[in-house]
Amino acid sequence: MTEPIIRVENLTCAYGDETILRDVSFTVETGEVFVILGGSGCGKSTLLRHMIGLERPKTGQVWLTGEELTATEGPARQALMRKFGVAYQSGALFGSMSVLDNVLLPLVNFTQLDRSACELVARLKLRQVGLEAYADYSPAELSGGMQKRAAIARAMALDPKILFLDEPSAGLDPVTAAELDALINQLAQTLGLTFVVVTHELASIFAIADRALMLDKGAKGAIALDTPEQLRDQPPSDAVRRFFHREINKEMA
Ligand SMILES: Nc1ncnc2c1ncn2[C@@H]1O[C@H](COP(=O)(O)OP(=O)(O)O)[C@@H](O)[C@H]1O
Ligand SMILES: [Mg+2]
Repeated sequence: MTEPIIRVENLTCAYGDETILRDVSFTVETGEVFVILGGSGCGKSTLLRHMIGLERPKTGQVWLTGEELTATEGPARQALMRKFGVAYQSGALFGSMSVLDNVLLPLVNFTQLDRSACELVARLKLRQVGLEAYADYSPAELSGGMQKRAAIARAMALDPKILFLDEPSAGLDPVTAAELDALINQLAQTLGLTFVVVTHELASIFAIADRALMLDKGAKGAIALDTPEQLRDQPPSDAVRRFFHREINKEMA
């Protein structure tokens, strides 16, 4: 049995005195598409931000690729944080730069490659997300779905083993969201990338998730971890059943 690529142990997340998540533990296997789901405000982004080291846990540990992020400081922490890529909820490409320059940025800043090598790598990343023809466009000239793909290309610039995506399909129409889901699956399958994806879109959950971790605001923690089909067909609690059935009803309405 290989070591899981991510291990979260007894993680408790708080802002000041307000505990958001209590005692959350799970592992993610290499190559898995792991979804974090749950209603608005339940702590999905909070969990993600703790997993990538943007927030410090109140208690508990996070291991990424065998290294304990929560016990790593200084340059070693910076190096560890460069082993994964992140695309945030807001997308956040730099609007004053071309798409290519956005993807070039981490390569120029964090590698020793010369300019032409950086450009070669950046163009490869754009090709992997289907945007090679748009290198010279500015982000504002791209559709919402293309902006998301460009943000993923930038997150992939330094060849991360893990990609973290926070609500990648937010604000996209269903067809474009489905295309993004297909891209995530393709990158996981062809490159062996591990994905941690925050979403509350039921269609996305079923399209991409190998397993899904469900958080709950009332419980202040994780209430289920399983395949989406299992969560739908054998919900371990009313809250899980309600989440899946309310969403299904809404989509069929
Ligand atoms: N930086 C912060 N400081 C204080 N409270 C926060 C902060 N970020 C989020 N929260 C609170 O934590 C809870 C969970 O937020 P969040 O993780 O963003 O939920 P989700 O992503 O599931 O919608 C919410 O009640 C939110 O108001
Ligand atoms: Mg969020």
